[in-house]
Amino acid sequence: MAGFRLIFSALLLGTLCVAGVVGGAVAENGLTETRQAQCMDCHAASSNVAVHAINNTVHRDLAGGGNASCTTCHGTSEEHLRAPTNTAPDVSFGPRWPSGADARSASCQSCHEKSDQILWTGSEHQQENLSCDSCHDLHRQQDLATAGKASEQICLNCHQQVRAELRLPSRHPIAEGKTACTDCHNPHGGLGDADLHQVSLNDNCFSCHQEKRGPFLWEHPPVAEDCSLCHRPHGSVNDRLLTARGPALCQQCHAAAFHPSVPYGSEGLPGGTSNQNLLGKNCLNCHSQTHGSNHPSGARLTR
Ligand code: HEC
Ligand code: HEC
Ligand code: HEC
Ligand code: HEC
Ligand code: HEC
Ligand code: HEC
Ligand code: HEC
Ligand code: HEC
Ligand code: HEC
Ligand code: HEC
Repeated sequence: MAGFRLIFSALLLGTLCVAGVVGGAVAENGLTETRQAQCMDCHAASSNVAVHAINNTVHRDLAGGGNASCTTCHGTSEEHLRAPTNTAPDVSFGPRWPSGADARSASCQSCHEKSDQILWTGSEHQQENLSCDSCHDLHRQQDLATAGKASEQICLNCHQQVRAELRLPSRHPIAEGKTACTDCHNPHGGLGDADLHQVSLNDNCFSCHQEKRGPFLWEHPPVAEDCSLCHRPHGSVNDRLLTARGPALCQQCHAAAFHPSVPYGSEGLPGGTSNQNLLGKNCLNCHSQTHGSNHPSGARLTR
């Protein structure tokens, strides 16, 4: 996809150059004339930001040769043109006169209100006063967010708790670069909890761990209900991302007056008559098919 976009941009660039030669609508520096040129009178060299870099991105000349570009995102900015040192452009992303978060996002939403961005309004990030430019850097030749570098360089700056979880002994291989935040989350909002791409948490897990979907002859009800009853999503001190260890995990729910609820102690060890179910220590030594079994006699999830 990225490759395709690159080729696409290259073609677009080529076409525009030709159009420039023929129509004379494009100035020598590759920018559209008129309003854009007015902005560039001052912003070409004086600004700290590499204003030109935007012309190497997909946002170059958005309106296809018309009176556009700078003003598509920053507004026509008549007042700023008249008194640039003390009035703001219509939409500014700061640092001097930052517009409100929703006004900034609105300038992008005029074009990006569909597909992945459709749920932005009302999303957790929108409500926390983030705006599109909290993650996207449009005056940079390669926006880090769409370069696949979001996990480490963008998300974790704010999500310190998750950053810590990624270093725990058992973890999804995010820091290792094999899974990314955006494989599971849509930072622009989602229909279910935690802005997942899928509506339910289980459907998220199934998208990669298909074998856990079943159907099983013998189901273990909590598995079909919610994987997070036993697993943490990012990292855990327990093996296999588990929420608790060994017998304790199972005994949270299996506390009936039966072998599993017998307290786990040292009494009755060699010489005595210990409970073999606890000598086996971990329930999983016998009940190995925690996620469900397709064995005809797997009702107790032992095979
Ligand atoms: C596609 C939308 C878009 C277009 C087109 C655009 N900008 Fe921006 N501009 C932004 C965003 C977003 C920021 C915030 C910083 C960033 O994301 O890189 C910004 C920041 C700026 C800043 C302030 C940077 C700073 O940090 O001090 C200036 C000045 C600026 N733009 C000028 C221009 C000029 C001049 C043009 C036309 C060549 C232009 N912009 C075209 C979106 C746009
Ligand atoms: C006559 C010169 C001049 C023109 C023309 C001009 N600007 Fe500016 N602009 C400035 C100056 C000076 C500043 C910086 C003010 C400061 O930070 O002290 C600025 C700042 C900005 C900023 C950053 C605002 C912020 O909050 O930091 C943006 C964005 C911007 N201009 C966009 C534009 C756009 C879009 C146009 C064309 C419609 C334009 N400018 C035309 C001189 C100009
Ligand atoms: C005038 C319409 C328009 C506006 C306004 C606009 N964009 Fe875009 N944007 C496009 C088009 C067209 C593309 C290329 C096709 C696509 O990927 O959807 C694009 C692509 C993108 C991409 C993907 C870039 C890539 O490398 O794949 C991002 C991210 C993006 N825009 C963010 C923004 C943000 C943030 C703003 C507001 C500051 C904004 N856009 C304003 C039209 C616009
Ligand atoms: C919390 C960070 C964050 C915010 C806020 C954010 N984005 Fe994104 N955006 C991303 C990341 C990360 C990607 C890359 C997605 C991927 O790799 O799957 C992306 C991808 C995109 C794309 C590329 C095409 C696509 O749909 O995948 C567009 C367009 C886009 N964002 C527009 C916007 C707009 C418009 C806003 C504001 C309404 C916005 N983004 C707010 C992080 C963010
Ligand atoms: C500028 C800071 C900032 C950045 C950058 C940021 N977030 Fe957030 N995010 C927040 C805040 C604030 C909240 C709400 C409080 C919380 O849950 O921590 C939040 C909430 C979330 C939630 C919970 C949503 C819910 O509905 O409960 C998820 C998931 C999330 N962010 C993922 C991401 C991902 C993925 C990225 C990177 C693409 C990212 N965030 C980048 C600030 C940020
Ligand atoms: C394998 C899928 C997956 C990946 C990868 C992933 N998450 Fe999550 N994340 C989840 C799930 C599932 C939840 C919801 C947990 C729950 O509700 O019990 C969640 C919850 C969250 C929350 C809400 C608060 C919390 O901790 O419960 C934030 C914030 C968050 N994730 C950020 C991130 C960030 C940042 C990254 C990348 C560093 C990331 N996630 C990577 C699946 C994932
Ligand atoms: C985007 C794909 C993806 C999604 C979605 C996903 N996982 Fe994973 N998961 C992986 C990868 C990759 C590994 C590492 C596999 C390996 O190392 O062989 C993994 C490993 C695991 C492990 C074993 C960890 C260990 O320490 O060995 C568990 C448990 C797990 N995932 C549970 C879940 C749960 C629960 C969900 C839903 C919240 C989920 N996964 C969603 C990709 C995913
Ligand atoms: C009742 C608790 C429980 C529930 C609910 C649960 N798991 Fe597990 N899961 C475990 C245990 C215990 C292990 C460790 C098994 C082992 O080490 O042999 C495990 C291991 C895993 C592993 C890594 C080893 C393997 O079998 O590939 C993955 C992946 C996994 N679970 C995914 C899921 C998914 C996806 C869901 C939801 C559909 C889920 N789990 C629900 C208890 C549970
Ligand atoms: C969140 C609660 C929960 C957790 C945690 C849990 N279970 Fe279960 N388990 C259930 C429920 C509910 C049933 C169905 C009971 C029924 O049908 O009477 C069940 C059934 C079983 C059965 C089949 C027994 C029968 O009567 O059919 C076995 C064996 C079992 N669980 C073992 C385990 C093991 C081993 C663990 C730990 C890895 C575990 N369970 C963790 C809720 C849980
Ligand atoms: C040494 C092997 C072993 C260990 C260890 C073990 N079990 Fe069992 N468990 C069994 C066997 C065999 C059955 C089937 C008994 C039957 O069908 O009458 C069983 C049955 C069950 C049942 C179904 C009870 C019923 O009403 O039929 C549950 C629930 C259960 N075990 C949970 C656990 C939990 C929780 C642990 C860990 C604390 C555990 N078991 C440890 C062998 C074991």
